[in-house]
Amino acid sequence: MLSRVDVALGSRSYPILIGSGCLSAAGSLFRSHGISQTNAFVLTNPQVGSLYFDTLRHSLTEAGFQQVVRHDIPASEGGKNWEEFSKTCAALLEHFPDAGAAPLVVLLGGGVVGDLGGFAAAVYRRGVPFVQIPTTLLSAVDSSVGGKVAVNFGGVKNIMGAFSQPRLVLCDLSVLRTLSPRELRSGTAEVIKYGVVCDASLFELLEGPALEKLIALDPETLIQIVTQCVRLKAAVVEQDEFDKLGIRNVLNFGHTIGHALELSARYTLTHGEAIAIGMVAATNLALRLQLCEPTLLESLTQQLTRAGLPLAHQGHPELFDPAVRALQLDKKFRNGKNLFVLPVRPGVWKQAEDLPWPMVHEVLMETLQ
Ligand SMILES: NC(=O)c1ccc[n+]([C@@H]2O[C@H](COP(=O)([O-])OP(=O)(O)OC[C@H]3O[C@@H](n4cnc5c(N)ncnc54)[C@H](O)[C@@H]3O)[C@@H](O)[C@H]2O)c1
Ligand SMILES: [Zn+2]
Repeated sequence: MLSRVDVALGSRSYPILIGSGCLSAAGSLFRSHGISQTNAFVLTNPQVGSLYFDTLRHSLTEAGFQQVVRHDIPASEGGKNWEEFSKTCAALLEHFPDAGAAPLVVLLGGGVVGDLGGFAAAVYRRGVPFVQIPTTLLSAVDSSVGGKVAVNFGGVKNIMGAFSQPRLVLCDLSVLRTLSPRELRSGTAEVIKYGVVCDASLFELLEGPALEKLIALDPETLIQIVTQCVRLKAAVVEQDEFDKLGIRNVLNFGHTIGHALELSARYTLTHGEAIAIGMVAATNLALRLQLCEPTLLESLTQQLTRAGLPLAHQGHPELFDPAVRALQLDKKFRNGKNLFVLPVRPGVWKQAEDLPWPMVHEVLMETLQ
C-alpha cells in the first residue's frame, strides 16, 4: 500500500509515493507513472549504494531499463561541492553522449545526493528528468520535495543551484532502518520545524508519544508523520515555487543561524543538529521581541531534547567570528541584513529582516558559550 501526495505545479506536477518496501518496485512504479526513458543514471554514495543499489538496479532492469549506470559521491556534506558536481556531469556525459539516449537520473540517498544530483540533472543538456528516492528521514520529509537543488560553493551553503522539480518522489520508509541513530534524530529536527511554524496539529502530535514512536520507526507513526510533512511542504511549494513571494521562507525557520553554524563548525554538526540549534536561537530572538510566549520556547526545547537534538553548541566561542562571517554570506543576506523566520505560536510565524545586530550577536554568543 502506497500513500500518495501530489505536488500541484501545472506542467511540473508530480506525485510523492510513500510506502514500505517499495524500492524493489521502483522500476515498475516509474513506468506506471509515465516515465519512459530507456536508460538510468543512478547517483548515490558508497554507504547507501552498498545497501540499496542492487535492489534498485534489479527493479530498473526488470522494468526494461537497458543501461543502468551508478555514480557515487562522498557520503557527507563535504561532498556537496562543485568538484563532485563537475565529476557527476562528466560521468553523465561519458556514459550518455548521445542526445537521443538521455537517461532518467535517479537520486538514491539523502539530501546531499538529492541536492547535488538534482542540480546536475537540472543543467545537463539544459535538463534531463530525475526522480528522488530519499533514504534519510530528513530527505523524506523535506529535501526530496520542492525542487530546490544546489551545491555549496565558496564557503556558502547552496549558493550554486536551480529550481528543478523531480518527475516523481519514491519514499521507501523501510530503508530508514539502516540509518544511524544520529542521522535519524537529525531528520526529526525538520519534522519539529514543520510543527512549530507550519502546523499546530503536528506540533500537538509531537507533544505526545508520537515523537518517541517516530524515532523508534513505528510504521504507522512514520507513514502518518512523513505524509503530513510532505503535504505541508507541498502546500508551501505550490504557493511559492520559486521562493519569490516570501511564503517559502517559512521553511527557513532555524536555518539562518543554523546554516552559519553548520558552515563555521565545518560540518561537524549535521544539518538537522545545526537547524535544531538555529530554531532555539530564532525562538530566543522572537522572545526578546515579545513575539512569542516563553512556553513556546519551553515546548520546542522539550521536543528537541526528547529527540536527542542539541539546543546549543556550547564551549565553542571561537566559532563566533566565523559564524558572523557565514551569516553575512548567507544566501538570503540582503542589504546588510539577515532574514529571520520567527515563531509566534504553533503554526504562525513572522519574518524579520531588520533585527538589530547586537541582539543577533548576543543570541549567537549565548549559543556558543
Ligand atoms: N533541497 C532542499 O529543499 C533541502 C531541504 C533540507 C535540507 N537540504 C539539504 O540536505 C542535506 C542534508 O541531508 P541529509 O540529512 O539527508 O544528509 P546526507 O545526505 O548527508 O545523509 C546523511 C548520512 O546518512 C547516510 N545514509 C543515507 N541514507 C541512509 C540509509 N538509508 N541507511 C544508512 N545510511 C544512510 C549517508 O550516507 C550520510 O552519511 C543538506 O545538504 C541540506 O542543505 C536540502
Ligand atoms: Zn533544512
